[in-house]
Amino acid sequence: MQLLKERILKDGVVKPGNVLKVDSFLNHQMDIDLINEIGKEFRRRFPSDKITKILTIEASGIGIACIVAQYFGVPVVFAKKTQSINIDGEVYHTKVESFTHKRTYDVILSKKFLNEDDHVLIIDDFLANGCAMLGLIDLVKGSGATIEGAGVVIEKGMQNGGDLIRSQGVHLESLAIIDSMTDTSLTFRN
Ligand code: G4P
Ligand code: NA
Ligand code: NA
Repeated sequence: MQLLKERILKDGVVKPGNVLKVDSFLNHQMDIDLINEIGKEFRRRFPSDKITKILTIEASGIGIACIVAQYFGVPVVFAKKTQSINIDGEVYHTKVESFTHKRTYDVILSKKFLNEDDHVLIIDDFLANGCAMLGLIDLVKGSGATIEGAGVVIEKGMQNGGDLIRSQGVHLESLAIIDSMTDTSLTFRN
């Protein structure tokens, strides 16, 4: 998505540890005009009229998913990260390991909001190692719902999350795929 790539080049900041900061338009301050264009682009790439729900994970996926959902006319449900291992039978549960944060989260989703009749589009801001996305896929599988696809705004192509998700047969669409980045250069996959 050209508009997004241009914005990353203009306002993205590469930090040590292979981290791309996009705080000024996506992750902290949010450019709503841009995110509306992101919503339209996901709609174009996922034209299915079967989708019943958009699924994301807190925190930074939520705002983006809400704007995207307006182009699909379906609710957003977000998986919650929790420290408590007091999981009752009313939730789907999975574990997500974060390499960036060097810890494991329990991730839950109420059984009230996803079931085998649902067709799910997963939306998130970043795809890096893919742990969060694999956790979301695991939650959907646990619910018996159908995965229609996964859309991420920025895929870090030098990490293996994209390969992992694609190898599971999930239709993954990334609006910008970064193949390399340094302090002075950033290249996208074509
Ligand atoms: P993974 O899910 O792809 O395996 O990601 P990883 O554990 O490596 O990263 C942990 C968090 O950091 C994730 O956010 C992920 O979206 C985010 N992240 C990974 N690489 C980058 C990057 O280069 N730039 C930015 N800005 N974020 C990155 P999260 O755990 O979902 O946390 P939250 O911020 O949404 O609460
Ligand atoms: Na994040
Ligand atoms: Na995220």
